[in-house]
Amino acid sequence: MKSAKIVGLGKYLPPKRLKNSDLEKIVDTTDQWITTRTGIKERRIAMDSSSSELAHRAAKRALKDAGLKADDLDLIIVASITPDNFFPSTACRLQNLIKARNAAAFDISAACSGFVYGLTCAWQLIGGGLYKNVLVVGSEVLSSITDWKDRSTCVLFGDGAGAAVLTQTNKKSFLSAHLGADGSRGNLLHIPAGGSRMPATCQTVDQNLHTIKMKGNELFRVAVRIMVDAAKVALSKADLKTKDLDLLVPHQANKRIIDAVAKTLKIKDKVYYNLARYGNMSSASCAVALCEAYQKAKVKKGDIVVLDTFGGGLVWGSCVLKWTL
Ligand code: ACO
Repeated sequence: MKSAKIVGLGKYLPPKRLKNSDLEKIVDTTDQWITTRTGIKERRIAMDSSSSELAHRAAKRALKDAGLKADDLDLIIVASITPDNFFPSTACRLQNLIKARNAAAFDISAACSGFVYGLTCAWQLIGGGLYKNVLVVGSEVLSSITDWKDRSTCVLFGDGAGAAVLTQTNKKSFLSAHLGADGSRGNLLHIPAGGSRMPATCQTVDQNLHTIKMKGNELFRVAVRIMVDAAKVALSKADLKTKDLDLLVPHQANKRIIDAVAKTLKIKDKVYYNLARYGNMSSASCAVALCEAYQKAKVKKGDIVVLDTFGGGLVWGSCVLKWTL
């Protein structure tokens, strides 16, 4: 029976740092409010780089870590809510940048769960025998869709990219995945204009309808329950219990959300946090956090790692890995 395992990870965070003290000069906020309400201290800003350019740097590092060349790739999946364009896909642009001449390429739009959605697709396509080596990237330039006059959202988001290379194996490394969605609550977090429902016009620009709108309070309430459920369902599909988990790598939206998930699951010392340094990078958050946990040796061979994500859509995705790197 064929399956997949992660053989390389990479990340790229643009060097420009935007600290809470910088935001104090832009909107009516304080370092104290941002730190206590979210846990975020600073975030990275891509300046004039696009999602494919961030993805390019993360992908090159993941390929190097995997000991593979771009030509070895059969498929590239990019998860992003800030694609370079509607089309061509950011995955196609990335394919060209890394010169992965043998790879098919497509984008996934699943907000903060995009990386886990992408990993799950890659795992199944490899397991089904169609592909051997697949690159999955979460890449975001959220600064390009942030309303820098809205203090309730502009303090939350950052830019970055994380990448994973998966290859075929006979061993069991991906133990389970659980993906879900609730489109009835899409209005809790969205960009109103720019698509076919409300194409861009001078009015949509004047009315500031091309930036993130979020009902943070309502999202907060559902986020904890959904992330707890997603982790439990994925673990039970893998015939495991919460006590078997060695490391939870959650989406990094708010420290209070992650703390509440950890408390409910009773896994307080087994959670990886990095949002203090990067804020919420949507699809890149979980990808970068997984890469960092690996680079900092927070996971070792044989560990049970659970990825647990939640975001706009609504969408959620969790998967259980037996660590092989
Ligand atoms: N600085 C100072 N005060 C602020 C700021 C700020 N940056 N932002 C909001 N406030 C004020 C509000 O105006 C409000 O004031 P009022 O009481 O006078 O009206 C007060 O602080 C409380 O506001 P709340 O919105 O209730 O603050 P809350 O504690 O809920 O924190 C936050 C807001 C951080 C957004 C939180 O609700 C949250 O993290 N929500 C979940 C976000 C999430 O999970 N998103 C999904 C993933 S992201 C994705 O998919 C791309």
